[in-house]
Amino acid sequence: ALRATLGSVLVGTAYVSYKLYRESNPAPQKPQAATFDNGSPRKTLVILGSGWGSVSLLKNLDTTLYNVVVVSPRNYFLFTPLLPSTPVGTIELKSIVEPVRSIARRSPGEVIYYEAEATDIDPTEKTLKIKSISKDDTEMDLKYDYLVVGVGAQPTTFGIPGVFENASFLKEIPDAQEIRIKMMNNIEKAASLSPNDPERKRLLNFVVVGGGPTGVEFAAELQDYIDQDLSKWMPVLSKELKVTLVEALPNILNMFDKTLVEYAQDLFKQEKIDLKLKTMVKNVTPTTITAKSGDNLEEIPYGILVWATGNAPRDVTKKLMGKMESQNSRRGLLINDKLQLLGAEDSVWAVGDCTFYPGLFPTAQVAHQEGEYLASVLRKQYKIDQLKWQMVQNSNASETAKVKAKVDKLQGQIKPFKYNHQGALAYIGSEKAIADLAIGESKYQLAGSWTFLFWKSAYLGMCLSFRNRILVALDWAKVSFFGRDSSV
Ligand code: FAD
Ligand code: NAI
Repeated sequence: ALRATLGSVLVGTAYVSYKLYRESNPAPQKPQAATFDNGSPRKTLVILGSGWGSVSLLKNLDTTLYNVVVVSPRNYFLFTPLLPSTPVGTIELKSIVEPVRSIARRSPGEVIYYEAEATDIDPTEKTLKIKSISKDDTEMDLKYDYLVVGVGAQPTTFGIPGVFENASFLKEIPDAQEIRIKMMNNIEKAASLSPNDPERKRLLNFVVVGGGPTGVEFAAELQDYIDQDLSKWMPVLSKELKVTLVEALPNILNMFDKTLVEYAQDLFKQEKIDLKLKTMVKNVTPTTITAKSGDNLEEIPYGILVWATGNAPRDVTKKLMGKMESQNSRRGLLINDKLQLLGAEDSVWAVGDCTFYPGLFPTAQVAHQEGEYLASVLRKQYKIDQLKWQMVQNSNASETAKVKAKVDKLQGQIKPFKYNHQGALAYIGSEKAIADLAIGESKYQLAGSWTFLFWKSAYLGMCLSFRNRILVALDWAKVSFFGRDSSV
């Protein structure tokens, strides 16, 4: 038995070392060039963003077929499904990011990366303006033949007064860091006040607004942290800490099956999370929120406010929509069933949360599949462009007709994007999760501790790199041995 165990440890170690070596030592890349070996021009493909949609495209694209340029203010990919676990320290932030440059370096053709944000897109001239993040806001113009817009979305506040100034969001790494700092500062400040001080009570009321999956997962992580870790270090204070989840609709997690919603809401009750349903926040000050429930207006003092009420388009998206007559939705960029931007179908595609298309929700699952689909479209587009170039070179009419027939055939092979919904997962606390799975036409609902193990394995499988997978697994192991850290 000992020999078998040692054997499997050795094989496991060799496998991990091999995978890590392969990831960190990619093969040499083909450099960018103005033309291909046959003299045909090499088109420039600009990809905006380094999130789920854009990175999925980049990972699946044959980057030797284009001069690929990636523009994103964030020089890393962020694995958002585990972001709610980071402010409390279940997962370390570094474990769920992957640098753009290492993703780009692993592709076969050279990829140029600008740490910049696109500020203005001109779909008629096929140009865009970008503003550098690292070089004092320097602006620069880029020309493209093809453009993929994958800039995601920003948190929405619905214009509710005081939200932007006082609340924290949970969308990006700095948001998670800000929540962590506020949490720890509040706990320490409250500990220095007497138990009867109302200020102590306020500081220890952590309010989450929005009962979608972001708000629910974060509230669950927060309560876990209080029950499993803080209760050991600060037993008295931890009992005073209160997590409140405010949701405008009659239920949380509205995209999940009713049975799972009830399961989650019951668990929240057991966990003592204060669930305020049918309650809409109307105003926020630095210390209180005003919420409306029926005809009643309630003032809720808070120490920390985390705002998770969904998405709104980014400025660059709104600017682009404002320029094009066919872009008449306020919810996002309108695309057709091949992900082409309405009004610029010949040269611009858009993926992920910046788009609006009925039936495609703003999820990582959708953006990821869209990126994969676009990689295959761009492979065909390259072949089409090569054939078109041959047509221009060839003056023989019958040859041209043959090549044109090939072009038409290839264009016909570009089928509409078909989303394959595999289901939804959410962590709901106390090492329990819910899963609303779709396998073919059948639907399955799972909930509980086994589902939590399934949730963990699904997210491990989805991690972008082998390095991320190992770091996340180590974080989970670390928390089960040592608990969560309680320093900033
Ligand atoms: P993003 O991933 O947001 O990427 C947008 C990219 O564009 C970023 O790199 C950004 O820096 C860049 N960018 C921004 N502005 C500009 C600009 N002006 N120019 C160039 N680049 C720009 N979905 C699931 O399916 N399952 C989950 O479990 C899940 N969990 C989530 C948890 C949290 C906390 C959050 C916030 C979301 C979660 N989602 C989940 C939703 C999922 O993260 C999004 O649907 C997904 O990130 C959308 O991908 P995207 O590529 O459109 O945008
Ligand atoms: P969401 O749009 O899913 O939910 C926002 C919630 O906030 C809604 O239930 C809404 O009724 C509520 N709300 C809005 N205004 C309010 C107010 N003033 N007062 C009280 N409640 C208010 O937003 P979320 O959770 O940020 O998710 C964004 C996207 O990311 C969604 O598409 C979601 O599916 C996806 N996501 C998926 C996850 C998963 O699958 N596990 C995890 C996190 C996000």
